[in-house]
Amino acid sequence: MKIFHSSALSLVCLISLITTANSSTTLLYPASESSNAQNTPVTVTGHPQPNKEGIYNVSKDLCWGCLGESIQYLFAHNWIRAQKWEMPLIWDSQLEKYARLWANQRRRDCSLTHSFPEGNFKLGENIYWGSGTTWEPTDAVNAWASEEKFYSYGSNTCQDGRECGHYTQIVWKNTRKIGCARVECDDGDVFMNCNYAPPGNIIGERPY
Ligand SMILES: *[C@@H]1O[C@H](CO)[C@@H](O)[C@H](O)[C@H]1NC(C)=O
Repeated sequence: MKIFHSSALSLVCLISLITTANSSTTLLYPASESSNAQNTPVTVTGHPQPNKEGIYNVSKDLCWGCLGESIQYLFAHNWIRAQKWEMPLIWDSQLEKYARLWANQRRRDCSLTHSFPEGNFKLGENIYWGSGTTWEPTDAVNAWASEEKFYSYGSNTCQDGRECGHYTQIVWKNTRKIGCARVECDDGDVFMNCNYAPPGNIIGERPY
């Protein structure tokens, strides 16, 4: 099993890791293009943009019994995936339970620590720490996703000294399910984490 490692950053951190595996079915996000079938001449300017409200609606449908925090996590992920036309993730209560268990253990120390030992990630896992209590799920997802600017698709590499693994896990083509948690620690800071299945970041494969 190989690891696509990442280390802790000052504010945000992450990781996810990877295994062997080989998955192949790349499912494309069903293009929810706005019907442009008019009789008037249409100026086509590249890709249709994913529709935000549509992605939100789809996310709600894929988040049975979700509370506000969960739908925030799911929608933020699916919106970023939609930019690459990847299938939306499904909220999974077992993954949520797993994430919650770990988050609750972090309540005392708020430590930016993974639930799996290095090199033995059974699930994808992104973690986040923020100073103060105001950080919300969308902040964590956006922080992870901001690594996109360091990722180069052509060479499938990350800029030297940068981290891209959180971003590539979010958009990973074969990942289907997600569960996340958020906890306000005893010291007043926030810890957030998401687990993904199947895990992404398989060495040698592209995310999308
Ligand atoms: C999203 O759902 C709302 C409420 O059901 C509906 O009114 C709206 O048309 C939907 N939007 C899209 C783009 O599907």
